[in-house]
Amino acid sequence: MTPTLPRRVAVVEVGPRDGLQNEKSPITTDMRIELCDRLTDAGFPNIEAGSFVSPKWVPQMADTAELMRRIRRKPGVTYSVLTPNMKGFEGALEAKADEVVIFGAASEAFSQRNINCSIAESIARFEPVAQAAKANRIRLRASVSVALGCPYQGEVSPAAVADVVQRFADLGCDMIDIADTIGTGTPRQTHSVFEAALRVVPPGRLSGHFHDTYGMAVANTYAALEAGISTFHASVAGMGGCPYAKGATGNVATEDLLYLFQGLGIETGVDLAKVVETGQWVSGLLGRKGQARAGNAIAAKRADAATA
Ligand code: HMG
Ligand code: MG
Repeated sequence: MTPTLPRRVAVVEVGPRDGLQNEKSPITTDMRIELCDRLTDAGFPNIEAGSFVSPKWVPQMADTAELMRRIRRKPGVTYSVLTPNMKGFEGALEAKADEVVIFGAASEAFSQRNINCSIAESIARFEPVAQAAKANRIRLRASVSVALGCPYQGEVSPAAVADVVQRFADLGCDMIDIADTIGTGTPRQTHSVFEAALRVVPPGRLSGHFHDTYGMAVANTYAALEAGISTFHASVAGMGGCPYAKGATGNVATEDLLYLFQGLGIETGVDLAKVVETGQWVSGLLGRKGQARAGNAIAAKRADAATA
């Protein structure tokens, strides 16, 4: 029997932030700005543009204020940024970000490595950020890292994920991302974790953020679709990796996710051809082949047709 899937989903493009935050080759502000502008032009409803975090921890995102000033913004598009504390929030406010993202973890060990504090301390630190976001009418999103496995602790229980989801819901988050930071999750596990999270908040307040280290991200997306989730994160050309999750690769490639949705007849409002072109462009700048399987196949077919 075919499950009932949503007719439309929102794809949040996280390439400019998650895709480039761990990039070893030199990236310029101009390149990140052109990337954001191309993604805006492709039709994404939400683009995660950068982070207001310590430049000592993540130097790649140090130019986020300038980027936010210079990108071409399309009305109706949400430009989001990561803000781990009030200092980050002040940067986001100044930059006129549409959405701020606080990020916690479902395991104590990852919380310490990523943001240098315990889960409880992180929630306390996020509280003023949440209040300030509400007071300034800025959308508030939260990310729950290592929801499907932790590089330091190993297994993470769905109950631990649901507990952090509850804490973020209590802070008034509009949206909560369930993140498979290290990309080890499988569809059955994805089902269990969303089932637990859905006991706390409705499906419209949850999204799937799947890294593709073990090649499971498209399958996990399908599992989340079956659970009623309709917002997904992806990174063009599959760029990325978390600095505090060694060996973990990028998010699911946007091209692959769009190809999946197209095949399922699910609308996204995003132009796959433009994303393929952007994926090839950015991979060229980074001097390597992109990770998007559908993207590379479509680009190769296009090149063949051009020379035929
Ligand atoms: P800390 O060292 O505990 O904080 O870092 P602190 O308050 O003691 O500050 C230390 C220094 O950082 C000070 O500077 C602060 O001014 C500065 P100093 O006096 O030494 O010159 N500082 C800041 N500078 C700019 N912007 C700020 C800011 N805050 C403090 N907002 C902190 C705590 C959270 C800041 C630090 O640990 C940090 O920046 N970590 C980076 C975390 C990060 O960006 N991780 C990657 C993103 S999360 C991710 O990828 C997961 C996700 O994709 C989902 C998934 O896949 O799991 C979202
Ligand atoms: Mg991530």
